[in-house]
Amino acid sequence: ASTLGTAAAAQGRYFGTAVAASHLGESPYVSTLDAEFTSVTPENEMKWDAVESSRGSFTFDAADRIVAHAQGKGMKVRGHTLVWHSQLPGWVGGLSASDLRSAMNNHITKVMQHYQGKIHSWDVVNEAFQDGSSGARRSSPFQDKLGNGFIEEAFRTARATDPNAKLCYNDYNTDGVNAKSNAVYAMVKDFKQRGVPIDCVGFQSHFNSNSPVPSDYRQNLQRFADLGVDVQITELDIEGSGSAQATSYGNVVKACLAVSRCTGITTWGITDKYSWRSSGTPLLFDDNYGKKPAYDAVLSAL
Ligand code: XIL
Repeated sequence: ASTLGTAAAAQGRYFGTAVAASHLGESPYVSTLDAEFTSVTPENEMKWDAVESSRGSFTFDAADRIVAHAQGKGMKVRGHTLVWHSQLPGWVGGLSASDLRSAMNNHITKVMQHYQGKIHSWDVVNEAFQDGSSGARRSSPFQDKLGNGFIEEAFRTARATDPNAKLCYNDYNTDGVNAKSNAVYAMVKDFKQRGVPIDCVGFQSHFNSNSPVPSDYRQNLQRFADLGVDVQITELDIEGSGSAQATSYGNVVKACLAVSRCTGITTWGITDKYSWRSSGTPLLFDDNYGKKPAYDAVLSAL
């Protein structure tokens, strides 16, 4: 196969990218997107501050442009993200516990209803655990006011709203076996045992020299899959360049392909020019949309 999307499809997977609505008018951006990718994730446009900056008033225009583009090209859409401590408007943090609970459930319901039937997988909850060895939850308005049960409540509300969307928990620094991924693993195991709805776990996979592709990446993906959930690589980018970067990208693809329930890979952007890592070169296409060695490594690993 000659593109990322067709090569991944031949393996029964999608190959996606984060997309920003603001770049959809740039012709090489769109032509690269359309040629190479079979799934999109709105990079910021579905986040709480983007869609409900004031309570109860929803704005979907920018996200709708991405979804319409994807649908027109037959691409899947990953919904990102419903409940997250970051890019959260200030009003949410000012609510009482009971008000926060209803605002959270209303947010999930309204956003999911708007996109009903159009989203392959939703990141229902993003980044709810701390880094480091504690395995503890991260402080957030949701955690601090609603307690551990907020995640379960978010997933139950999401399932009741759109029973056809896959519901994911998504996080970073959970790519290898470590205290943080152990904590997420325990939560997913508990959810499966108690019948709390969860279908997938997203592994963001933002890698750099301090946080390289873990040697036990495949093993970690597999242990989650063995709990009965799909796994997805949701925000892949790898700092570096040349053959070292290419080798790391190839290893990520091989790890996913070795796990039958690893259903797809999404890179966190198309071109280095627009990466959120503004100083780096972590993606598959250079500033001029040229294919990097990392691109070739991904294609040949698929
Ligand atoms: C990032 C976007 O890429 C940036 O444009 C924005 O300024 C901050 O958020 N984990 C996530 C993503 O789940 O939503 C983040 O995206 C990157 C880290």
